[in-house]
Amino acid sequence: MSELRTPRLRLRPYGAGDLSAFIALHGNPDAFGMLQTGVESPDQARRTFESYRQAWQRFGIGVWALFDAGDGRLVGECGLRRRDDGMGFALRYTLLPSHRGRGLAQEALGATIAHAFGAAGLLRIIGIADLRNHASCRVMERAGMALERVLRRPGKELGLYVLMRRDWLRRAGPGPSMSGPFTRR
Ligand SMILES: CC(C)(COP(=O)(O)OP(=O)(O)OC[C@H]1O[C@@H](n2cnc3c(N)ncnc32)[C@H](O)[C@@H]1OP(=O)(O)O)[C@@H](O)C(=O)NCCC(=O)NCCS
Repeated sequence: MSELRTPRLRLRPYGAGDLSAFIALHGNPDAFGMLQTGVESPDQARRTFESYRQAWQRFGIGVWALFDAGDGRLVGECGLRRRDDGMGFALRYTLLPSHRGRGLAQEALGATIAHAFGAAGLLRIIGIADLRNHASCRVMERAGMALERVLRRPGKELGLYVLMRRDWLRRAGPGPSMSGPFTRR
């Protein structure tokens, strides 16, 4: 399983020793309240933990825990999950409020996308965000994702963002490095 570095973050799949920190993160409304899946109870978080582990084994891609490269603290997570509705692999990302507004999501998404189109060999990824969640939409737009359509749901509108590998390669310029803005360890 991959471990990546960006200038300010270390990304690695969760390990068995991370379970209590994982349950705390997934139960934190500041971190998970805006996600489609919402805040998780400890039992739900344990199931999610297991599904992340299985996804890494099955697809060679999944969700990374994000650690501050300076002090080593868990500050959020970012990665891709395969949806069970046939829409393919979708981005998931969240940061603790203490670590927002500094472009860290941009770093994490950049590493995730480069890994998805590089080592993992995906051809297309999607992201779905509530259109009122400007930071989330902006982060995807800056990563080169295009708003394909709006999904209307009771009380909200969700933006379906898409990025194709060929467009990502074109955007990265001739002969892009598969390593992107990070180093593999
Ligand atoms: C979405 C999230 C990961 C963005 O992380 P971040 O590191 O703070 O984002 P960045 O600092 O890279 O900012 C990205 C862009 O959003 C903008 N932005 C940040 N906060 C914003 C806000 N509250 N309102 C509007 N724009 C905002 C930034 O100005 C930046 O835009 P720019 O590139 O034009 O300057 C973070 O806000 C978060 O964890 N939110 C809760 C979880 C969540 O919503 N996840 C996505 C679910 S779909």
